[in-house]
Amino acid sequence: MVTELCGIPLRHPVINGSGCFDAIAARRAFGDQLVSEFPFSAYVSKTITPEPRAGNPPPRLWETPSGLINSIGLPNKGLQGFLAEDLPELAELPVPLIVSVMGTSHDQFADLVGEVAGREEVSALELNVSCPNVESGLIVGESPEEARSLLERLRLLTEKPLIVKLTPNVSDPASVAAAAEQGGADAVSLINTLRSTAIDPASGELWLGGETGGLSGPAVRAVALGQVRAAAAVVSIPVVAMGGIASGRDAADMISAGARVVAVGTESFRDPAAGSRIAAEFETLVTA
Ligand SMILES: Cc1cc2nc3c(=O)[nH]c(=O)nc-3n(C[C@H](O)[C@H](O)[C@H](O)COP(=O)(O)O)c2cc1C
Repeated sequence: MVTELCGIPLRHPVINGSGCFDAIAARRAFGDQLVSEFPFSAYVSKTITPEPRAGNPPPRLWETPSGLINSIGLPNKGLQGFLAEDLPELAELPVPLIVSVMGTSHDQFADLVGEVAGREEVSALELNVSCPNVESGLIVGESPEEARSLLERLRLLTEKPLIVKLTPNVSDPASVAAAAEQGGADAVSLINTLRSTAIDPASGELWLGGETGGLSGPAVRAVALGQVRAAAAVVSIPVVAMGGIASGRDAADMISAGARVVAVGTESFRDPAAGSRIAAEFETLVTA
């Protein structure tokens, strides 16, 4: 069960999806038992941005058959708030820390990476590239050229592993994965949520305060499996697979499709111990 990601030793191959497990709130709810029985083998922070963000207006969630649409809008304390308030608490977790960052320009990404990578508590960074680059108007994760040029810039700033989180909202995510590798990425993670929306049955109006959102959960698992397989076929760097993983069988399928490590997102809202359960189920399957 022991594995590694970009040279970071992991006691099992199950980590969390960014934004889907608030370790600080969970520790408040479950006490130090959360630390001694931490469900994931590494912890990925929710995405932080240069400045604080309030996120989208409510309502922010909508359930679909087998899925969840969220329109959270990346609320966070901003870089300085994160470094001052959250990083010391997250550094107490018994697992390596991966910090997710998102900027809207190369300069913003460079500032985030420079500051975060310089902290010894941080083992790796995940780059959330689902946002437009204000300089080009293009969403970095939707354009191979954007992804490569961003990575070429960031690669010069740190030797710490850079993991690029890919969006599924493109016709060919594998080409973005390949471009990220060419730019110097150490790993790719996929999938982020699928663009979607919901209608309020009472009013016929859009339900979500942010109007559109991202679909996750079992509803997206087969899409994720297909995209993970396509990405893994064209890169030699490790692939972190996520999208609807809810059991050891789902994790095993992603590993069969070429993933090194899997991440659990939406399932942790239903079962906060999902990470350990899925790791145990996976171990039983592979050792049977
Ligand atoms: C409520 C919620 C918040 C999320 N926040 C983030 C985030 O801050 N950064 C990010 O890269 N992905 C975020 N995601 C996407 C997940 O990390 C994951 O890529 C996606 O949900 C697919 O996995 P799942 O089906 O297991 O949830 C979020 C997903 C949900 C449901």
